[in-house]
Amino acid sequence: MNYQWYPGHMTKAKRMMQENISLIDLVIELVDARVPLSSKNPDIDELGKNKSRLILLNKADLADPEANKRWMAYYKELGFHVLEINAKTGQGLRAIQPMVQEACREKIERDRKRGIKNRPVRAIVVGIPNVGKSTFINSFAGKACTKTGNKPGVTKGKQWIRLNKELELLDTPGILWPKFESMEVGKRLAMIGSMNDDILQMTELASELLEYLMEYYREPLFARYQIDGKDKLTPMKMLDLICENRKCFKKGQEPDYEKAASLLVDDFRNGRIGRITLEICEQKQEEERK
Ligand code: G4P
Repeated sequence: MNYQWYPGHMTKAKRMMQENISLIDLVIELVDARVPLSSKNPDIDELGKNKSRLILLNKADLADPEANKRWMAYYKELGFHVLEINAKTGQGLRAIQPMVQEACREKIERDRKRGIKNRPVRAIVVGIPNVGKSTFINSFAGKACTKTGNKPGVTKGKQWIRLNKELELLDTPGILWPKFESMEVGKRLAMIGSMNDDILQMTELASELLEYLMEYYREPLFARYQIDGKDKLTPMKMLDLICENRKCFKKGQEPDYEKAASLLVDDFRNGRIGRITLEICEQKQEEERK
């Protein structure tokens, strides 16, 4: 299957980002905690250099808690400020404000020395589609905020959300397009639902997912579909068993693999198999050492 997926408006999005980034002090980058590498577009490192950087591992509720810790440490080591959050429930959001202050300490200090008082940190939220940018802005900004409207020196039409006297957020998030560096990246993004499912072959995707889950999350997978885990199973055999367990049959008792595949992928995406991370930090570190 070809996971390449290239929306035409990429160049426009990049141009808009360049324009917006010049206005801000801090880039708040959302990545999906289940794929902390594949959901990160490295272009933002170039665009956002000289800016303070905060990475939020969003959808942390769906990802493996141990893996979350490792990936946070990984990004911290690279010099980012990092937090894990659940934008949907608001969990973890309270830690953001103090971290913003820490991340922007130099800027705040510079302002102070120049006699500039009370100039809020200006931030932009960026991330690939579906990573939770709008959900985050809504829950982080909440109802307490006010839109500030146009200000001198700010491109016409830009809206800033004033969270408090220390922080303003650009109200439109920056969209980063995923970088398909390899088939693996495309595959993982397809698994979390970051692509249009219409262009995917569900059984193939499910088979890849099963292969991974059988290796790293065997217990919760087998428990979910009440499968006896003694034998070594191929992904197709496993899909067969899911058909049986979930009564996915066509006419004449023929297994409906397509249906079972969609069901499995949907279970995974919604956390019903458990908290699962598709990228292993140690493997990445190992690759980097080579
Ligand atoms: P975007 O602006 O980056 O494109 O993403 P958006 O906020 O639209 O969020 C995409 C989906 O991810 C939404 O689900 C949203 O509810 C969900 N989401 C965002 N943050 C989190 C999180 O931390 N944890 C979990 N579990 N889900 C999160 P949806 O299915 O499109 O909508 P809904 O059914 O949740 O309303």
